[in-house]
Amino acid sequence: MKAVCKFSPELRGTVKISGSKNASLPILIATLLTDDVCFIENVPRLDDVFAIIELLKKLGKKVLFQKNKVSIKGKIKNTQLDEKLVRKLRASVLVMGPVLARKGYGSFAMPGGCALGERPIDIHLSGFEKMGARYRISKGRVIFTKTKLKPVRIKLKFPSVGATENLIMTASLIPGITVIENSAIEPEVIDLANFLKKMGVKININGKTFTVKGSKKLKGAKYRVIPDRIEAGTFLLATASVSGHVQLKNVLYRHLESVILKLKNSGVKIKTSKDKIHIKRTGKVKPVDIETAPYPGFPTDLQPMWAVYMLQAKGVSKIKENVFPSRFMYVDELKRLGADLSLKGNTLFVKKSTLSGTHLLACDLRAAASMIIAGLISKGTTEVSNLHHLSRGYENFFEKLQKLGANVSIKK
Ligand code: EPZ
Repeated sequence: MKAVCKFSPELRGTVKISGSKNASLPILIATLLTDDVCFIENVPRLDDVFAIIELLKKLGKKVLFQKNKVSIKGKIKNTQLDEKLVRKLRASVLVMGPVLARKGYGSFAMPGGCALGERPIDIHLSGFEKMGARYRISKGRVIFTKTKLKPVRIKLKFPSVGATENLIMTASLIPGITVIENSAIEPEVIDLANFLKKMGVKININGKTFTVKGSKKLKGAKYRVIPDRIEAGTFLLATASVSGHVQLKNVLYRHLESVILKLKNSGVKIKTSKDKIHIKRTGKVKPVDIETAPYPGFPTDLQPMWAVYMLQAKGVSKIKENVFPSRFMYVDELKRLGADLSLKGNTLFVKKSTLSGTHLLACDLRAAASMIIAGLISKGTTEVSNLHHLSRGYENFFEKLQKLGANVSIKK
């Protein structure tokens, strides 16, 4: 399947943002912490969500997914996690925390690398070890032997989103006080913490420190997932790149403050209200440098789209990637359009470029979105292959873009 993109003069209209993929995945997995029924709303219909639901069923859960609502209940009957699934979906490593908390043991395939570079889980494993877990690695699997976990104080060497999520889920079922310092505080992590609180966990967040008062048993809960700030950021950058006037609905602008500030510095007009963002770009684009960083810094997931946007800015702009240093696989693809990009270490230098369409190969979810946006601002036609990446993370992406006037279609 390919996306066929043609030059589009402007984007105009309203787009409704879906529920957050990266909040839905850990929250769905957190239902493993109880046998009671849980109801989760505003869950986007994405390949990654379907994959996690399959995984939960494999572990013994009964799951019903209708429209954007999920109901989940039942006991954990299996503690094995197979390699095919873990390689397909990195987020499946988040199953370790709840299974260890419930069972005290488990055998999990290690996640492989991906387009973002190697994806280690050492921060997750060292946290589990500090809690008393004992494991060995053999044949690409992490095998935990049965141990009783205890409340501890942990300081993460890097504010890893996944490690923070795994460890607060484990701590939720350890009676006593667990403290996790230098944690990730992305909105998706906070959303997971809010769901855990609904399940009966006492969690206090002070700066980047989580204090979790766990208990032996947690109850089922009803919860509505936050809007997807990365999807929202993608549509902000699509509008800024193509130009036009778009209103985003069902969005929490405070989750995108770092991006909104940079967009305003580049000359874009943005107005925000409770659950809406209005963006208008009609004039010239000013070059603006960015550095990605853990929240509340500029999100690494929007880095490729920022590069596409800056291809229209007069002068040179710099993009420094501090979270996934090798997250530049898309650069050589954009160069095929005529993009003037040069990479020095983990800094990309972007110059104003005239783009003309050609065939591109998407390498990851966010790079796929950035290549489609690039196709909308290139002369002629751009075809983007490997679209399976896109359906992992964007709900009805093409319909939403077409409704805004983007000249994009799908070719089988
Ligand atoms: C989450 O990945 C997101 N995925 C990613 O979004 C996002 O890019 C990333 O956080 C950063 O914000 C989900 O939430 C499902 P990390 P995660 O652990 O948890 C290193 C998307 O497109 N690290 O915060 O895997 C790691 O190599 C995806 O939706 C270790 O060294 O990210 C990376 O350099 C892409 N050891 C940095 O930390 C570890 O044990 C950040 O990784 C764990 C991570």
